[in-house]
Amino acid sequence: MSGFSEGNPGTTPIGASERRAVEVRAAIQEDLPGIAAVGSEAFSGLRPLPEGRRWVEACWRAAPRMRYWVAELDGAIVGYILWLEKGGFRQEAVLELEQVAVRSTLRGQGVGERLIRVSLEALRETLRARGARLKLIEVTTGSEQGAIGFYARVLGTEVAARIPDFFRGDEFILIARPPPPSS
Ligand SMILES: CC(C)(COP(=O)(O)OP(=O)(O)OC[C@H]1O[C@@H](n2cnc3c(N)ncnc32)[C@H](O)[C@@H]1OP(=O)(O)O)[C@@H](O)C(=O)NCCC(=O)NCCS
Repeated sequence: MSGFSEGNPGTTPIGASERRAVEVRAAIQEDLPGIAAVGSEAFSGLRPLPEGRRWVEACWRAAPRMRYWVAELDGAIVGYILWLEKGGFRQEAVLELEQVAVRSTLRGQGVGERLIRVSLEALRETLRARGARLKLIEVTTGSEQGAIGFYARVLGTEVAARIPDFFRGDEFILIARPPPPSS
């Protein structure tokens, strides 16, 4: 495995004005309703919306074990990513990309990729600050989501296992092993 890929082939570029307008940043508490709305549109597990809100709020309370970043356009939350640190705050950190979602009208324009890249850089910085290194990233995704190729392109993931009949279909466990950080 070659580690995280850096290129951006195959994605329709977002227009220059929109690229300027879409901001990816760490989430604040006021973003939670917007996160729940995007999540509820993307994932059946976050429906109905009040249940989605309850779940998002529970994840928010789990910081710093779980952390959100958002994509904002014209003051509205149009995407988010949720990361989870697994098995303790280890020196050899294992992260799970728990969820990433973009408003359906904005998909295919690079927002999801930017959410991953910006948040991952911030997470790496957090790990560096505590003297830890990122050992690997796990992502699980359903066969029905169609995101396996997306994760392979952006993170360099490989399929490690397939679990039949998990949520709404088969679930794939994807693993990305980044190269060791430069000292
Ligand atoms: C997967 C998702 C976050 C990607 O965000 P995005 O902004 O569309 O991503 P980008 O524009 O950076 O890249 C587009 C990639 O997403 C894939 N994709 C998956 N579902 C898509 C959809 N409904 N519309 C457009 N692209 C989609 C495209 O095939 C493309 O894959 P590629 O890299 O192999 O070409 C977004 O499509 C989404 O929210 N999907 C629904 C929720 C979901 O499936 N999340 C992942 C599982 S946890």
